[in-house]
Amino acid sequence: MDEVLRVENLWKSYGETSVLRGVSFEVKRGEVKVIMGPSGAGKSTLLRCINLLVKPDRGRILLEGREIYPKPYDAIHRIRQRIGFVFQSFNLFLHMTVLDNVRVGLVKVKKLSKEEATKIAIEALRMVGIGPELWNKYPAQLSGGQQQRVAIARAIAMNPSIMLMDEPTSALDPELVGEVLNVIRDLAARRMTMVIVTHEIDFAIDVADEILVIDDGKIVERGKPQEIISNPKHPRTRRFLERLKRRVDHGLR
Ligand SMILES: Nc1ncnc2c1ncn2[C@@H]1O[C@H](COP(=O)(O)OP(=O)(O)O)[C@@H](O)[C@H]1O
Ligand SMILES: [Mg+2]
Repeated sequence: MDEVLRVENLWKSYGETSVLRGVSFEVKRGEVKVIMGPSGAGKSTLLRCINLLVKPDRGRILLEGREIYPKPYDAIHRIRQRIGFVFQSFNLFLHMTVLDNVRVGLVKVKKLSKEEATKIAIEALRMVGIGPELWNKYPAQLSGGQQQRVAIARAIAMNPSIMLMDEPTSALDPELVGEVLNVIRDLAARRMTMVIVTHEIDFAIDVADEILVIDDGKIVERGKPQEIISNPKHPRTRRFLERLKRRVDHGLR
């Protein structure tokens, strides 16, 4: 199956607020889609719908050709194992060491032996550049960049079909953004299938096979990074991208 994710005509409202208004896109294996768009556009809601954390009002979602919404082919907790999620705010277990954070899902959810889980966890930690000197530390003893890299390791250790990342660097101090973006670049180079919400425009140009611009609950523009950046068709996209570029020029990231 070449298509990992298909989202068809997704709608979601909160009371009177219409948040998603007919969103459709697809992600093939090994592809990286970057979602951009102003605050409040519905980006987080879209990712949360795909991960079945939020129930859409209407539409259809397929994972590897099988419907997960409205009629999930399997129990939701098992479907969620196929989808890695990286949050803005790391979401590590604060009372667990780095190694346990990465290992816990493998032991508790995948029912692997501690030995097998440790092997896979260490491999994932190495992939994100977290060395042995940090494996027995607690999240509070790590920098934000290190914490986010552990969170990414925890997600990849589960061997998901797709990774969803919701502004993975926007809670970080500027000097720590680069190390996390490099880890994600590395995953892209390894052909990890990903949907990434980010405002990091240079990074988006680097990794995205396609950029989707969402505004007011709709995809208003989509295409190859160079097309979108150099020749945005939609006036709001143009204004939005110009604001981002100004932030880059002024070093305000
Ligand atoms: N749980 C919720 N209840 C009510 N309104 C929500 C909820 N989550 C999001 N919204 C609203 O939906 C809109 C889109 O939010 P969100 O998906 O977080 O946008 P983005 O991630 O693009 O900034 C916003 O107006 C937000 O206030
Ligand atoms: Mg958001």
